[in-house]
Amino acid sequence: MAFQTIKGTHDILPEDSTRWQKLEHIIHDVAARFGYSEIRTPIFEDTSLFSRSVGEDTDIVSKEMYTWQDRSGGSITLRPELTAPVARAFIQHNLGRKSPLQRMYYMGPLFRRERPQKGRQRQFHQFGIEAFGSKFPEQDAEIIAIGYIIFSKLGLKDLSLKLNSLGSGKCRSHYKKALQDYFNPLKNQLSETSQKRLESNPLRILDTKNPDEQTLLAEAPSIADFWTEDDQKHFSHVQDLLSSLEIPFELDSRMVRGLDYYTRTTFEFISSNLGAQDAVCGGGRYDGLVETLGGKPTPAIGFAAGMERILMSIDPQEKSTEGNSVYLINLVESASGKALQVANEIRELGFAVTMDTLRRSLKAQLRDANRIGAIKVVIMGDEEIKNQTLQIKDLTTGEQEEIAESDLVKHFVV
Ligand code: HAM
Repeated sequence: MAFQTIKGTHDILPEDSTRWQKLEHIIHDVAARFGYSEIRTPIFEDTSLFSRSVGEDTDIVSKEMYTWQDRSGGSITLRPELTAPVARAFIQHNLGRKSPLQRMYYMGPLFRRERPQKGRQRQFHQFGIEAFGSKFPEQDAEIIAIGYIIFSKLGLKDLSLKLNSLGSGKCRSHYKKALQDYFNPLKNQLSETSQKRLESNPLRILDTKNPDEQTLLAEAPSIADFWTEDDQKHFSHVQDLLSSLEIPFELDSRMVRGLDYYTRTTFEFISSNLGAQDAVCGGGRYDGLVETLGGKPTPAIGFAAGMERILMSIDPQEKSTEGNSVYLINLVESASGKALQVANEIRELGFAVTMDTLRRSLKAQLRDANRIGAIKVVIMGDEEIKNQTLQIKDLTTGEQEEIAESDLVKHFVV
């Protein structure tokens, strides 16, 4: 049997890669305009980096990681997310000492052994933005604004922003206790997983997809009742800043996110045209993460967005030729050296030049030129070689003219 991609993984074929490159270009561009620099970390890390940061009880750590025992004995995991690796790099390279504010972004593949479905893969791609050093609401607003601007530039459809605050550590421990008090008498109505989570991490129960448990959640205490005065002040300020930026949002006090490191502001951008897997992006503050991983206490906030989901929710763009594609047809075998040289000269002038290497007929090559959307075709036949001329056919108007070889630059530069 011929080999196939592994379940939940996909090839990005040449015909699709232009859309990916455009997306990547917009991300690089917007991130740079906000003063963020790219960070690239390894694809695999120590397993405990993820279990300590994302949390043992989360779906990601408890059942979705690709983990193996290295020959040297240590446990290694393909990265299921990138915030923990970026925090690890921040600590390892002492980035906090280099500047009080570290602004970084990234793009790359992630691995989660989830049940594949539309918008959910086992290898997928994220881009993410992370800012280390500021505890103030301006930083929250900046991070959310970057997401909003990128998604608006991309023309993402039917997008809404859900916002919540998970409060500070003190608020969380009071809320945890309140959830335990609420769920303990209902314990036998909970699934086995939720019963386990009730002891260790009751906030995770709010993430349940089980409809019976969701009914129980309707009456459960809300995190909003446990915010400290400072939590409340921080969150109101974030909302005011978003309003002044005219970024619409909805409050959702049940949104806990699927990872344990969050504190205070959390958010998701949801696209209603995506079906069940509708979260394009998720993020929030993680003021305790750097310290948990052994660094100095450092407030931080960021988000990550699923690139496949972004591409699914924007219109497939027409094949773009960028208006600079030229096709060079050489019909004289002995002149192929010259043809290669002419192609390079045109490339130097800023054009993309395609040449046939199958020695096909004039007709077949013209068809190919049309297929790739070339704007001009340069033709070299016996007569042209003899007279040191070139035929240039403009495919947009259909007009053809003969020019002297020496006028090549003049022709393409004008
Ligand atoms: P996350 O919510 O786990 O957060 O993932 C962020 C986004 O990645 C999701 O909203 C979704 O678009 C995409 N995504 C997640 N899993 C899959 C999958 N199996 N297939 C396709 N797309 C997927 C994080 O990863 C955090 N590190 C975000 C963050 C950064 N928080 C602070 N900074």
